[in-house]
Amino acid sequence: MKIIICEDERELDIKAAEEFANHIRRKPDSVLGLATGSTPIGMYKQLVDMHKNEGLDFSRVITFNLDEYVGIPHDHPCSYHAYMDENLFNHVNISRENINIPNGLAESLEEECTNYEEKIKSVGGIDIQVLGIGRNAHIGFNEPGTPFHSITSVVELTPSTREANSRFFDSIDEVPTHAISMGIKTIMQAKKIILLAKGADKADAMYKALYGPITPDVPASVLQLHPNVTVFVDKEAAAKFPTKE
Ligand code: PGA
Repeated sequence: MKIIICEDERELDIKAAEEFANHIRRKPDSVLGLATGSTPIGMYKQLVDMHKNEGLDFSRVITFNLDEYVGIPHDHPCSYHAYMDENLFNHVNISRENINIPNGLAESLEEECTNYEEKIKSVGGIDIQVLGIGRNAHIGFNEPGTPFHSITSVVELTPSTREANSRFFDSIDEVPTHAISMGIKTIMQAKKIILLAKGADKADAMYKALYGPITPDVPASVLQLHPNVTVFVDKEAAAKFPTKE
């Protein structure tokens, strides 16, 4: 695992975007695994700038998002469909038919999950997956206790995740109780993973994820078993890392 500790958010955004962009330049038809949340917004901004200023080409990439809420319309401002449009897709030359986000309004959510998993396989798997981390060390919406062999499924959100995400909604009662999320196994099958973490409220989760025991109680700890992970972390989120002598 490669760990890059950045001075501040801006440095993190630039370095993470550079890693992602290099991947797209090397393999223009890359299959990208994308995340939502506050953390990757700055990285997406950098990628949009690279598209506008340097011609970074998204025309052949295929994307799969990690997760989506169950039961809110795609044009709801808090849906991850809307988030992706606003932060990336509306600003780059991606083909709409190459965008995949779980459909939390599907008539059969189970079928939606099976099809999503199959579709990832059918394009050869995810080349590079970006991840944020929850304060409880969740990845995607895989909450503590999720088995490491889980694949894309309907998951129940914990009270702490609903509380953390309520900042985007008018009230906590509006935060959906369920989501569709890629599973831990799905995530671990990505050929490369980049994990981003910013801010002091992630320090504990990051310490446990990178240096603690590998356990489903700390979902992100599974990343210690992945052969190709790069972590971009700011100083605050790295505050509990062991210091070198
Ligand atoms: P955040 O969410 O980027 O909004 O902190 C990360 C996550 O919950 O995975």
